[in-house]
Amino acid sequence: MNSPLRLGVNIDHVATVRNARGGDNPDPVRAALLAQKAGADGITAHLREDRRHIRDEDMAAIKAAIDIPLNFEMAATDEMQAIALATQPHAVCLVPEKREERTTEGGLEVAGDDNRLAAYIKPFKDAGTRVSLFIGPEQRQVDAAAKIGADIIELHTGTYCDAFAEGRMDEADAELARLVAMGAYGHEAGLEIHYGHGLTFESVGPIAAIPQAVELNIGHFIIGEAIFVGLEEALRQMRAAMDAART
Ligand code: PXP
Repeated sequence: MNSPLRLGVNIDHVATVRNARGGDNPDPVRAALLAQKAGADGITAHLREDRRHIRDEDMAAIKAAIDIPLNFEMAATDEMQAIALATQPHAVCLVPEKREERTTEGGLEVAGDDNRLAAYIKPFKDAGTRVSLFIGPEQRQVDAAAKIGADIIELHTGTYCDAFAEGRMDEADAELARLVAMGAYGHEAGLEIHYGHGLTFESVGPIAAIPQAVELNIGHFIIGEAIFVGLEEALRQMRAAMDAART
């Protein structure tokens, strides 16, 4: 049995549905509290620069409401840094939002921006906030993350999930091998290893089975399933799929 795997639930798309109509429903804070009650280990929310789903007041309200860790996803901008420092989340996860911030794998370009990012994360480290970098499974990005003193890397599972969903299994297997290898490599470098993006009941197993994985962050699929079976049941099924792969 591997060590227990944490499930971070991303509630962004509850806000997406709310924003489609304006007004207050459905409420992402209510979703965060329900996820917490149903056994989520953390809540993840992404305050995008365009505020297309989560808004500033949502982030503050979620932080105030929940007792489990808040993982604040954000672009590495001055505006987001100020908001995140004021919010005092458990962790920040830096993600690319603009094309020039992305690596070939779609994760954050750390290797080419290491001096800036090292300075950028310092106030978070000084504040005791954990710093996660969302990167593709590329050795140069893992090396750069370790070099600048990140606590965590979240390895981007989007390419694997897309190939898996479209039945391109050779590509899915090749990408999975990279995710496995970079999990082991990052762990050796002293980084905590998370995975996320695009995971479903079907695709989560091979990722959950990676021994170095400490946390998975999953949103869109869980919120979509919740339409049919409810959020608690969707979470229960995701947890069961993770546990089955982990044992
Ligand atoms: N992890 C990170 C860093 C993300 O940016 C996202 C998407 O916001 C997720 C996990 C969750 O991805 P999904 O909603 O596809 O499950």
